[in-house]
Amino acid sequence: MQAETPRLTFDIKPNTNPMPEADRLKAFENLGFGTLFSDHMAVIRWSEGKGWHSAEVTARAPFPIDPASSVLHYAQEIFEGMKAYRTSDGRAVLFRPEQNAHRFNESARRMAMPELPEEAFLEAVEKLVRLDAKWIPKGDGASLYLRPFMFASENFLGVRPSKEYIFCVIASPVGPYFKGGAKPVSIWVSEHYTRAAPGGTGAAKCGGNYAASLVAQAEAYAKGCDQVVFLDAAEHKWVEELGGMNVFFVFEDGSIVTPPLGGTILPGITRKSLISLAREEGVTVHEKPYSFEEWKADVASGKLKEAFACGTAAVVAAIGTVKYPEGEFQIGGGQNGPVTTKLRDALVGIQRGQSNDRHGWLHVI
Ligand code: COI
Repeated sequence: MQAETPRLTFDIKPNTNPMPEADRLKAFENLGFGTLFSDHMAVIRWSEGKGWHSAEVTARAPFPIDPASSVLHYAQEIFEGMKAYRTSDGRAVLFRPEQNAHRFNESARRMAMPELPEEAFLEAVEKLVRLDAKWIPKGDGASLYLRPFMFASENFLGVRPSKEYIFCVIASPVGPYFKGGAKPVSIWVSEHYTRAAPGGTGAAKCGGNYAASLVAQAEAYAKGCDQVVFLDAAEHKWVEELGGMNVFFVFEDGSIVTPPLGGTILPGITRKSLISLAREEGVTVHEKPYSFEEWKADVASGKLKEAFACGTAAVVAAIGTVKYPEGEFQIGGGQNGPVTTKLRDALVGIQRGQSNDRHGWLHVI
């Protein structure tokens, strides 16, 4: 469905009852992930025949949802994850936001939802961050996580695309995604559950993919692991991705392997950025299938030196321990490896405005 919208004008309605500054600063002292929310939200509505309309930035508040709202029945919903950072010189910046706007529309197409003009996506995010600029926490590892999303809001029980949608952006000041901070994470290999099948929705950022991952994630927690890693649906052989992160492998010859995008893997923006950064350093990066059997054998032989997960929320997290039904192994002695650390520092340095933004990845608000 093509966007049919002339330029939108946002109605800005500042919250008349914002969180008191002292409470906000107190809350900033102990930031986790996704539990604290800023004062505002951006909203744009879509109706068949009218296109996108009623753009506003307003006080964050619940949506009244009719029990027949189609998202509640058929899960027509997509989202993005992005962050606003406060750089050391005081600027508020976004990292490659046009990539999120673009991917959002790819997800929309897969889920038979209307595309939102990229400039409207960006304007909604920018206007929200501008109004909630004081909600960007300072300090290492802290940022304002932005969650653009869209859901089907028509009250209708037939199975067809909704004729009404709500696009919204909310903001949440966050600290580290994993409780252990920068400590390597442990992962559980799900040999039973899969995340995405060929022809399915694996490359779309839709809520259903994450709902389907939860039982496997619960299994990972039960095994004492931080995250689950999925194998492919066809052969249960090839490593695909974690519950919400892409995965990379670092070898003794310095080369890197990451599973290829082929419709079942989320095209991560952090993934793409790390591939560029590594290649610019002269590192050979292969986007190619890598099996769990190879992974075990390469750890046993010493060929595999490091593995890490990456995503907007998690940034770059070393994988220290891997558990599976028949056993477990450690990678790099369960410590952060040098390549993982170097790539993370290079990425975070750009995001925080500490390194030269030679690619023009930062978008100053
Ligand atoms: C992100 O990294 O932003 C995501 O959307 C993943 C989610 C598991 C938090």
